[in-house]
Amino acid sequence: MSRIAVVPGSFDPVTKGHLDVIRRAADLFDELHVLVVHNPGKTALLPIAQRVSLLEQAVREARVAGNVIVTGWSMGLLVDYCTDVGASVLVKGIRSQVDVAYETPMAIVNRDLAGVETVFMLPDPAHAHVSSSLVRQVASLGGDITPYVPPVVAEFLQRPTEE
Ligand code: PNS
Repeated sequence: MSRIAVVPGSFDPVTKGHLDVIRRAADLFDELHVLVVHNPGKTALLPIAQRVSLLEQAVREARVAGNVIVTGWSMGLLVDYCTDVGASVLVKGIRSQVDVAYETPMAIVNRDLAGVETVFMLPDPAHAHVSSSLVRQVASLGGDITPYVPPVVAEFLQRPTEE
């Protein structure tokens, strides 16, 4: 039986920390779906299609394993996607106790709803301070985001806007 897992998130935008977790998770499962999901609690910077496109390019650029599928989901519950594709595991990156507190209720609800288990993974500590919200803020104020995001994202967000 092949093990299918999903790495869900806003990915607004994808960071080097996300890519690190995706790379580690791709080594553990037969098939890994990286799923861009709308978070009702957040105001998005980029549309879902744009985030999917940047993620696809970043995964390709970083030469992550070939068992990774990048896609978006805006049709309802995350666990409905898992059921549709036969995934039994969600993978979340944990940077700190704050992430544990944020992720734990979602993990329990997702298990209650559909029996989908959540696996927490520790990213490289080098990325522990990196978040998409920090990247959005630095980029919006003209700072250099290249240490925090894949090159394709830095290029996209730091591209001068046309008049
Ligand atoms: O990167 P984020 O914003 O922390 O990811 C959170 C996300 C998008 C995975 C979460 O908000 C989510 O699962 N949204 C889908 C709606 C859903 O299924 N909610 C019920 C389970 S918590």
